[in-house]
Amino acid sequence: MLMKCLILGGSGLLGHRLVISLVDEHEVSFTYFNNPIPVQNAIASKLDLKDLDATVALIDKFGPDAVLHAVAPPSVDWHEKERAAAYQTNVLGTCAIADKTRELGVKLAYVSTAFVFPDVDKVFTEDDIPAPINFYGVTKLGAELAAMRNPDHLIVRTDQIYGWALPGQKKSFVVNVLEKTGRGERVEVCQDWYNCPTYVGDLSDAIISLVEKGKRGIFHTVGSSFINRYDWAVMIARAFGGDPGLVVPINSASLNLPARRPNVRIDNAKIQDECGFKMKSVEEGIEAMKEEQKS
Ligand SMILES: NC(=O)c1ccc[n+]([C@@H]2O[C@H](COP(=O)([O-])OP(=O)(O)OC[C@H]3O[C@@H](n4cnc5c(N)ncnc54)[C@H](OP(=O)(O)O)[C@@H]3O)[C@@H](O)[C@H]2O)c1
Repeated sequence: MLMKCLILGGSGLLGHRLVISLVDEHEVSFTYFNNPIPVQNAIASKLDLKDLDATVALIDKFGPDAVLHAVAPPSVDWHEKERAAAYQTNVLGTCAIADKTRELGVKLAYVSTAFVFPDVDKVFTEDDIPAPINFYGVTKLGAELAAMRNPDHLIVRTDQIYGWALPGQKKSFVVNVLEKTGRGERVEVCQDWYNCPTYVGDLSDAIISLVEKGKRGIFHTVGSSFINRYDWAVMIARAFGGDPGLVVPINSASLNLPARRPNVRIDNAKIQDECGFKMKSVEEGIEAMKEEQKS
């Protein structure tokens, strides 16, 4: 069925993937902040989510059937340093979107993070209670609560999205490792950071499938591996014919970063059980990237 979809953050790694996956079958409008990436047959608008009136006016003007919210401020550390702007963007921005979409009777899909959970030795399911340890996680949890003001909400929690980047887009870990090892440079990676890396194509397909099926509530949409950055980087270098010896393990304490990173493992069984959707392992994700590279 043809839908009118508004993708907020449609110039980002995930947002752009959603735009190009939806545009052939649906009417698509998307927003960018600094980096307009034109897509044929999709309407692009500049938006700063901190401007709540402009955000609400944009939703009103397009009159969508579904709003997919994939806006992300620059980095985890940025949230720690720019707390007021982070609260305004993530929490108040999402609140304005939720209230407007509820008023219009429109679905809201919000992209959240595994970082709403703490650093404890447990595999978290959708029924577990979040307890973030950094301000990024705090504002993403606040945004989840805001999204719930619309009863037709979908919250997808993800982790370490990876895929190829277009010019101007933030480069994923995989691309950073490939670029550095490709130039024969050393790449230092944290061996004490663990993630469930998530292939962007899977994440986009999972969100679209959940929206099209009319699903509501929380879904953990992460890849099927739990791996530390060092092992992952070595695997990436090897898979693309680079020198794994260029990957150097370090401990995150040496970076002295403003935000602590939790090592969080979240369980993706629910999306598989309810939608038959299997999220890729890192090995499968690398193969998918290789296939994309060929085409
Ligand atoms: N990347 C990850 O590893 C990861 C992990 C967990 C959760 N997530 C979540 O997944 C979602 C998508 O992430 P992503 O990696 O695709 O992000 P991304 O590539 O960094 O893209 C972010 C998008 O948000 C836009 N944006 C930034 N600041 C904005 C503002 N103030 N107002 C409006 N738009 C703004 C950017 O626009 P311009 O590029 O045009 O400036 C871009 O379209 C986000 O909700 C993020 O929190 C990501």
